Amino acid sequence: MRLVQGEAEAITDLFAPASFDVVLCQGVLMYFPEPGPLLDAIARVVVPGGIVSLLVRNGDALAMRPGLLGDWDGVGKAFDGVAYRNRIGVDARADRLEDLTATLARRRMPVTRWYGVRVFTDTAASDAPLPDDATLDAIVRSEERAGRTDPYRHVAALLHLIAVREDEASGS
Ligand SMILES: C[S@@+](CC[C@H](N)C(=O)[O-])C[C@H]1O[C@@H](n2cnc3c(N)ncnc32)[C@H](O)[C@@H]1O
Repeated sequence: MRLVQGEAEAITDLFAPASFDVVLCQGVLMYFPEPGPLLDAIARVVVPGGIVSLLVRNGDALAMRPGLLGDWDGVGKAFDGVAYRNRIGVDARADRLEDLTATLARRRMPVTRWYGVRVFTDTAASDAPLPDDATLDAIVRSEERAGRTDPYRHVAALLHLIAVREDEASGS
């Protein structure tokens, strides 16, 4: 394994086209003012037939977190757009499922599967103690089930999209 530190926008300078079978971009796209440029770069470095995994803040359900925490001003703002301030106080941007799916499709990376992440546990405190093994196992099972089940996955805090890079030559 080789670790390379750099700006995500610069991956096409760091790596040749079609360098990777899988690209994981998890918890990063929300820090970009728009997803297009980074997705262009990812599309270039992933091999045709390769997998792209994106974990993004869910712009369709942005009001859930403030609402469940009783932050009614926050709810109002969340309904008005996709900008938000995250738990560590950084301004960020959420993505809507339909928009991001279309953005990926335009770059020949159609979404093949998607999941919700943190359906039930989004409001757990960052410093909450780890539950006992049985409870932790129940939480993981419940989250995994909700994350792949409608309508729960639609209101998850995060969306996990799996896309597959189309083969340029065959169009599939
Ligand atoms: C929420 S963390 C996610 C870390 C990791 N991917 C994970 O899933 O645990 C967000 C990460 O995005 C990185 N980041 C933010 N903007 C970036 C940029 N323009 N280029 C590269 N990394 C960036 C931050 O340094 C931070 O490590």
